[in-house]
Amino acid sequence: MTILVTGGAGFIGSNFVLSWLTETSEPLINLDKLTYAGNLDNLATVSKNPDYIFVRGDIGDASLVPELLAKHKPRAIVNFAAESHVDRSIKNPSDFVLTNVVGTFNLLEATKAYWTNLPISEKEAFRFLHISTDEVYGSLTAEAPAFAETNRYEPNSPYSASKAASDHFARAYFHTYGLPVITTNCSNNYGPFQFPEKLIPLCVHRALSNEPLPIYGDGKQIRDWLHVADHCSAIRAVLTGGAAGATYNIGGNEEKTNLQVVGEVCKILDDLRPRTDGHSYERQIEFVADRPGHDRRYAINAHKIEQELGWTPTETFASGLRSTIRWYLDNQTWIINVTTGNYQNWMRSHYGVE
Ligand code: NAD
Ligand code: DAU
Repeated sequence: MTILVTGGAGFIGSNFVLSWLTETSEPLINLDKLTYAGNLDNLATVSKNPDYIFVRGDIGDASLVPELLAKHKPRAIVNFAAESHVDRSIKNPSDFVLTNVVGTFNLLEATKAYWTNLPISEKEAFRFLHISTDEVYGSLTAEAPAFAETNRYEPNSPYSASKAASDHFARAYFHTYGLPVITTNCSNNYGPFQFPEKLIPLCVHRALSNEPLPIYGDGKQIRDWLHVADHCSAIRAVLTGGAAGATYNIGGNEEKTNLQVVGEVCKILDDLRPRTDGHSYERQIEFVADRPGHDRRYAINAHKIEQELGWTPTETFASGLRSTIRWYLDNQTWIINVTTGNYQNWMRSHYGVE
C-alpha cells in the first residue's frame, strides 16, 4: 500500500506529508515540480524516512507520471499541486492554466490509464482526491448562507477559474469513465510553512521587518479560516471514508474580516515580540489599492463532512493563530531562506519599492 501526493513540498502538501508519516505507517511518494512555492526545507525532518520518496517533476509530464504509477502502484493520489496565489493569477494567469487545468487534465489521463488496468478489487478501492478551494463558488453577500456542495460554480479570478476548470475535469472523469474521484473544497488555511505572500505570514514577516501591513480596499472582505492541521485531518478522513464521485466542503466556521485578522496578528505580536518603541504593530497597517475583482465574502457549510465522516476542526482561530505566530517567531531562518531572490522581485512588482 502506498499513496502518491502531488505538490507535497508546498504549504498544505508539506503539512500533509509530515502528518501522514507521523499518523500512518503507509509509504508516500511526493511528486513536486519545486516552483517558487515548493520548498524541501519543509520536509527536512522526513527526507531520510524509508517510507518517504521525493520525485521532482511536473504533474503534466505525460511520460514521468505513468512511469511513477507503474513503478509504485499507489492505491490513491492526493493532488495538491497547483499555482495557488490569487494576486499572481491576476498578473500572470498563464501558469495557472498550464498547471491547474492542463496539468490536472494530464494527471487524470495518466491515472485513468493506470486505474483501468488494476484488478477489480483495487479498482474499487482506488481514490483520486482532488484538493480544491471554496473560491470556485464565487462571492457571498453579507446575509447569504454559507457555500454548500450544491452551490453553483461562479469563479471570479483567473486562479479560481483555473481551479473550477480542474474540478470540472475531475468530475467528468468520474461520470464518464468511473474513475473514483473525490473533490474537496476548503476555505483559507493558515499554519506553519505558508509562503509569506499570503496574508497571515506576509503580515507577520512585514511587521517584524518594520514594513507597512498592506490591507486591500476597505479591509472588510471576509474569509473563513482553518488551521492547516485540521485540513490535513479532513483529507485523511475523506481518503478513508469518502464516497467515490462525492465532493466535500471543508471549513473552520471562523469568518473574519481581513482587518480583524491583521488586528489579531498585531495583538499577538504585541504580546509575544513587542515593538521596541512600545507602540502596537497596528500602527504599521496601511490601506492600499484593492485587488481587482476582489471577492467580498467566503463562508463554508461543512455539515456534509461533519455528518458523513465525523470530521470537525480541533483548533479555534484564536488558538491556531497564536501557535502559528509562535512557529514563525521560532523559525526565522525558514523565513529568511524563503524571502530572498524571487520573493523580493514579487514584492517589488506587487507592492512597489519601499
Ligand atoms: P502552494 O502554492 O503553497 O504549493 C503548491 C505546490 O505545488 C508547490 O510545492 C509547487 O512546487 C507545487 N507545484 C506547482 N506546480 C506544479 C506542477 N506543475 N507539478 C508538480 N508540482 C507543482 O499551495 P498550497 O497553499 O499548499 O495549496 C495546495 C492546494 O490546496 C492547491 O491546489 C490549492 O488550490 C488548494 N487550496 C489552498 C488553500 C489555501 O488556503 N492555501 C485553501 C484551499 C485549497
Ligand atoms: O479560500 C481559499 C483560498 O485562500 C485558496 O484557494 C488560495 O490558494 C489561498 O491563497 C487563499 O486565497 P486568498 O486570496 O483568500 O488568500 P490571501 O492570503 O492572498 O488573501 C486573504 C485576504 O487578504 C484576501 O481578501 C486578500 C487580502 N489581502 C491579501 C494580501 C496578500 C490583503 O488585504 N493584503 C495583502 O497584501
